[in-house]
Amino acid sequence: MSDGPSFYDQVGGHDTFDRLVSEFYRGVADDPVLRPMYPEEDLGPAEDRLRLFLEQYWGGPTTYSQTRGHPRLRMRHFAFHVNPDARDRWLLHMRRAVDALDLSPLHEATLWDYLERAAHAMVNTFDPTPVSAPEPPAAS
Ligand code: HEM
Repeated sequence: MSDGPSFYDQVGGHDTFDRLVSEFYRGVADDPVLRPMYPEEDLGPAEDRLRLFLEQYWGGPTTYSQTRGHPRLRMRHFAFHVNPDARDRWLLHMRRAVDALDLSPLHEATLWDYLERAAHAMVNTFDPTPVSAPEPPAAS
């Protein structure tokens, strides 16, 4: 017995996930709290990693694990200050990106339910967002 097409295929495969993450990173690029968290100048590689992960999660190609190994997402996020503010910003940009896809209500609800729960699970601190302080004067 077959389980039928994967969620990945049902929602339109690679093109759909490509649109999702590119819309999401347009929001991140302008976000004063999230943007500084991304270590690289170019958000392109981070965009690829998120897309490959989501494609794999939803039954598409397994390129993510082949290139990055086991996801261990919570562990990989320990390096970043993921407090509720960062989570809510992440979800805001993701909400806009999901809305732009025009999925069927069932697909949309399935995808959103996962993203919301995953984002809540990623929170690793309740410390406030650090405000960038000016550099101290150089010692003379
Ligand atoms: C809750 C707020 C979140 C924040 C602030 C956040 C932030 C970040 C940052 C700064 C990176 C490093 C960028 C890079 O170089 O790849 C990253 C990586 C990543 N994030 Fe998140 N993230 C959040 C939630 C999530 C969620 C919910 C997922 C999955 C559904 C996710 C999936 C990923 C993946 C797959 C990577 C790349 C991991 C790797 O292979 O190295 N993130 N995230």
